[in-house]
Amino acid sequence: MYKILRTILFFFPAEEVHHFSMKGLRIICSWSPLRKLVEWSCKPEVHFGKDEPGSGNGPAGSAAVDWAAAGSAGGGAAAGTATKMGSDAGTARSGSGSAERAVPAAAIWNGAAAPENVAVSGAPSGAAAGRTGVSRGLDRELFGLSFCNPVGLGAGFDKNALYLRELEALGFGFVEIGTVTPKPQAGNEQPRLFRLPQDQGLINRMGFNNEGMEAIAARLKAWQQRNVRSAEKTGEGVGGRPRMIIGGNIGKNKVTPNEEAWKDYELCFRALYDVVDYFVVNVSSPNTPGLRELQEKDALRKILTHLQTINRELGGKRPLLLKIAPDLNQQQLDDVVSLALEIKLDGLVATNTTISRAGLVTPASRLEAIGAGGVSGAPVRQRATEVVSYLVQQTGGHIPVIASGGIFTAADAREKLDAGASLVQVWTGFIYEGPFIVRRICGGI
Ligand SMILES: Cc1cc2nc3c(=O)[nH]c(=O)nc-3n(C[C@H](O)[C@H](O)[C@H](O)COP(=O)(O)O)c2cc1C
Repeated sequence: MYKILRTILFFFPAEEVHHFSMKGLRIICSWSPLRKLVEWSCKPEVHFGKDEPGSGNGPAGSAAVDWAAAGSAGGGAAAGTATKMGSDAGTARSGSGSAERAVPAAAIWNGAAAPENVAVSGAPSGAAAGRTGVSRGLDRELFGLSFCNPVGLGAGFDKNALYLRELEALGFGFVEIGTVTPKPQAGNEQPRLFRLPQDQGLINRMGFNNEGMEAIAARLKAWQQRNVRSAEKTGEGVGGRPRMIIGGNIGKNKVTPNEEAWKDYELCFRALYDVVDYFVVNVSSPNTPGLRELQEKDALRKILTHLQTINRELGGKRPLLLKIAPDLNQQQLDDVVSLALEIKLDGLVATNTTISRAGLVTPASRLEAIGAGGVSGAPVRQRATEVVSYLVQQTGGHIPVIASGGIFTAADAREKLDAGASLVQVWTGFIYEGPFIVRRICGGI
């Protein structure tokens, strides 16, 4: 069904379709019965049991059956892999009562048990367990945050935090808003987003178009307040089922010289501190001239340690992550790893879009006509997995990695989780696979 719609939508310019679709979804979600229908059809299935977790026929047992019966290549392979790796790792199994079950490979760090800051559960804990029965073990505890599922939306989709309610209805466990810059900026001239259907990819040179930190912070504050009000009314969200987590992806304005970039990151960090759950420092977009030079070790150290100092001043509560490009060479990756370990970074996001055009089947003439920009989607999948795997190995699993790059299906997500990622993000996959992507991935991992 979505494929037919996609064929029609692909006749129109990509950026216009993006806004048109999200506005359409917003209209649909503004009427409660329709929003519930969207949630019912798109949110990952959560199996609620009548029995208490731990009883033989109860939720833990059903979770084990569901897991094995997930049926898709991703789900089947996942259980198998996890069991095998779990037996290697010794500790990588979790059970509730007698119902031992394989845990997802996200809990397994290259054959070793997951680091203490990553937890995967088979049944919800605390209030959630008491209220709702069992989930399929989709929830994750990471950086002290509770993610209701490991599938997020990558930065750049909802740059201005305009569509959070709609994205929550689609089932995303987390959404990374931004990239946010201190001042509003228009970004590059249009057209700046192009589809590569033969490659299942996109090329973009958006250039951090966004409304600026103040407008976005105000919007997030309103979202937060609405959540609190709704939690008070329904008992959900706060203190109950985990709500959708919001990441704040921050960058610098185009006009800010690299030597002063740290000031822009500080401004955004302070402005968004109270309204996001975690931060991602973006120095890896290919569409802001010179930005990627900030991936050099000393430049990075300056920005990140400065933010860590401010974080401590403000209470030290916001996990700080760094998003890197897939085009870094081994020496540059090693620098990222040693810096991340040295300054005890909370996590890494791997990867952004690539400037490489290698291996694309789209005709060279078409690529030339499109011009500069970052490639995303299927063409970046393998390299992103390699980078995730390398980072996890080299950090010994001490720095959690959020995987981004070419995730369309449960099998793609599984590939990233097997490489050691703790969470995954989709972007281009959402465009190609449509609104059921979270449910499908969650159903097969
Ligand atoms: C149109 C578009 C805009 C993007 N904007 C941003 C951005 O502002 N900040 C950022 O960190 N990443 C941005 N990204 C990169 C994505 O978040 C993601 O890391 C990348 O596309 C790889 O994932 P994918 O293959 O699933 O698309 C953008 C990607 C696209 C396609």
